[in-house]
Amino acid sequence: MPRIRLSRFLPAVLLLAAVFVAFRQSTFGAPIRHSPTPTDEELQYEVQNDDVAAQNVFSAESVPEAQYKRRIVAVGDLHGDYPNALRVLQMADVVDEEGNWSGKVDLFVQTGDIIDRQATLLIADWRYVEAKEIATFGSVAARQKMLQTGRIGRAWTANYSITSRVALYPPLGPDSPFPSSASYDPSLGHSSIDFESSLDFGEEQLDDPLGTAYLSFVHGGLSPSFAHLSPYPSAINELGATLLRRLQTRPFPPPHPPHPYAGLPHDASEEEKSLYEEEGPLWYRGWALQPEHVVCPEVGKILRKTGVRRLIMGHTPNFTAITSRCNGKVIIIDTGISHAYGGVLSALSIQYTLTPPSTAVDSNPGSGTNRQWKEREIVTAIYPERQEVLVVEERTVLGS
Ligand SMILES: *[C@@H]1O[C@H](CO)[C@@H](O)[C@H](O)[C@H]1NC(C)=O
Ligand SMILES: *[C@@H]1O[C@H](CO)[C@@H](O)[C@H](O)[C@H]1NC(C)=O
Ligand SMILES: *[C@@H]1O[C@H](CO)[C@@H](O)[C@H](O)[C@H]1NC(C)=O
Repeated sequence: MPRIRLSRFLPAVLLLAAVFVAFRQSTFGAPIRHSPTPTDEELQYEVQNDDVAAQNVFSAESVPEAQYKRRIVAVGDLHGDYPNALRVLQMADVVDEEGNWSGKVDLFVQTGDIIDRQATLLIADWRYVEAKEIATFGSVAARQKMLQTGRIGRAWTANYSITSRVALYPPLGPDSPFPSSASYDPSLGHSSIDFESSLDFGEEQLDDPLGTAYLSFVHGGLSPSFAHLSPYPSAINELGATLLRRLQTRPFPPPHPPHPYAGLPHDASEEEKSLYEEEGPLWYRGWALQPEHVVCPEVGKILRKTGVRRLIMGHTPNFTAITSRCNGKVIIIDTGISHAYGGVLSALSIQYTLTPPSTAVDSNPGSGTNRQWKEREIVTAIYPERQEVLVVEERTVLGS
């Protein structure tokens, strides 16, 4: 497992990358068949939404050997507040007291704005850049070089994506959703499986246990009106990659102000520009700001189109709590963590457990492909003084 020192990535000046995912590789062989759009006969499911008011997500229950567990932690906008970022990561057990990767979390996802106004930097919008920040690079030219061809620019290209489709379930052979870092493809945003919904992909398949056992992460939000959702996540991330390449290869525009705002590169395509529009994935606020009776009827459409169970995003803060909407299908994790906003420190934890038929407590093992696997997903908001369970979902998965 990689040991990542927090200080190696937090003070870095970041740009277009809305999602950063650090992950621990794990191996698990589960004979569950997977196909992108399974038929009813292949996989059946039942979903129970339990209202579990208080549950200690860190309790060490004794688990059967072969049970597969995965813990994902996500953190929203940090806006350059390193001490508070460190507190949040310690609070959620991502790093230890020295700031080193703890190994207790399988994946850590950060949904952008790691530093203040992250997405404006490479666009040469210098309105929020202070002289003392430029001084840390040495000069304006050195700062520009760092963002384009320097260590930071190269890290964006290699390891950051606009959006991510993160798998909950274990690696399954060559289609493993957890590629090694050597085979990592930024366009797939830490999933090796792209999702393209077929035209006849119906409502009943929305909850296919493994076909949609994924979570979506993005900075702003995936708007229903955004034209490039599918295949997800590569359609968005490929546009992000080509736009990033243009920004990194054009002569760096002189700082604005005092110079005129250069905007996006002139040769950027309309599709690339759409990422940066108000309805684009970097800035869309509809899921956070519109009333639930408006957004909840819409969310199923997006989940089906992207093959995920939940849309998790930052960008639109609520300073008191992580917001779960539409029964946990929409989760907004920006709580104004930076002292500049004065919000509450928070992290989102997703605990996923897949229990094989032979060890499931109340299993009723069938034969062949109809054995019952138990799936359990607990989504919890973590704050300094308390935890709040937002969603508990249990499903029975029929597999082999
Ligand atoms: C934390 O990381 C630093 C730098 O890599 C290392 O020197 C130190 O020993 C690590 N601490 C622990 C407890 O592993
Ligand atoms: C991308 O991340 C990997 C894993 O943390 C790291 O080894 C590699 O150096 C990074 N690439 C760049 C160009 O920063
Ligand atoms: C923030 O979240 C809390 C708790 O869910 C809620 O009561 C409050 O109305 C929200 N505030 C805003 C501004 O939406």
